[in-house]
Amino acid sequence: MDYKNIKLEKSNGVGVLTINRPDVLNALNDETIAELDACFDHIAADDEIKCVILTGAGKAFVAGADIGELAVCDVIAGRAKCDRGQSLLFKMEKLPKAIIAAINGFALGGGCEIAMACDIRLASAKAKLGQPEVTLGIIPGYGGTQRLARLVGYGKAKEWIFTGDIYPADEALRIGLVDQVYPPEELMDKAMEMAQKIASRGPLAVAAAKEAVNRGINVTLDAGCEHEAALFAGICATKDKEEGTKAFLEKRKAEFVGR
Ligand code: COA
Repeated sequence: MDYKNIKLEKSNGVGVLTINRPDVLNALNDETIAELDACFDHIAADDEIKCVILTGAGKAFVAGADIGELAVCDVIAGRAKCDRGQSLLFKMEKLPKAIIAAINGFALGGGCEIAMACDIRLASAKAKLGQPEVTLGIIPGYGGTQRLARLVGYGKAKEWIFTGDIYPADEALRIGLVDQVYPPEELMDKAMEMAQKIASRGPLAVAAAKEAVNRGINVTLDAGCEHEAALFAGICATKDKEEGTKAFLEKRKAEFVGR
């Protein structure tokens, strides 16, 4: 598929999705959000893609929503913009494949929010993260007030969001917003290494595990464990479960087929 603001490349079971508006630090305008939305539908249906890396072209991951578009938003347009962005981020969380954010530079506002909708966040030591919306007189609108609080706790989330300060990758690692920090030149290799490892695992198992963790965050422990048990039972009916356990017992590498 041809896109104007993003590009999708495939290698060895991994889809590398790059937001590609480097002149404006990959700011998310409406067109880019629509392209990402369509691209995740394509990724969901493409059996050759088993794991996704999301990154940005140039010196930024994503420097936020497009401020030129925000400047002319009235009440109706502001609401519609949030709805479209939030719908994309929910789609990413429901994608039955893992998404790794490779945060190569600025991840601000909508950029930090889209990274938080990924499953795992790996950052370059040069990356800078924050929710600077209040410096523009607005608030996060792509779920930042909710996902940041869930990831790092209410106090830290409020400190970040109320001050609008921008923090280095090491601080994001310390508070649990990112999972690993690497030298800039190693980031993509490390992301690819992890993505290929995940792509080699049972795809139905990875999808079920993602669903179990994501649903569990928002329900009681009892309800989350109940859902986990239902998913586990479903997995027991798959060829991949048969193959994975048999391969272990036969001391060979499993060949998963995603059924
Ligand atoms: N929306 C639209 N354009 C943006 C943008 C955004 N979120 N972030 C950066 N840009 C544009 C700049 O206007 C500039 O365009 P120009 O070359 O036509 O002047 C270009 O990207 C490069 O940015 P610049 O500010 O010159 O780079 P810098 O390295 O000096 O600063 C940042 C980098 C990230 C600190 C700075 O661009 C910034 O503060 N961006 C906005 C961050 C933000 O508030 N995001 C939340 C939005 S809700």
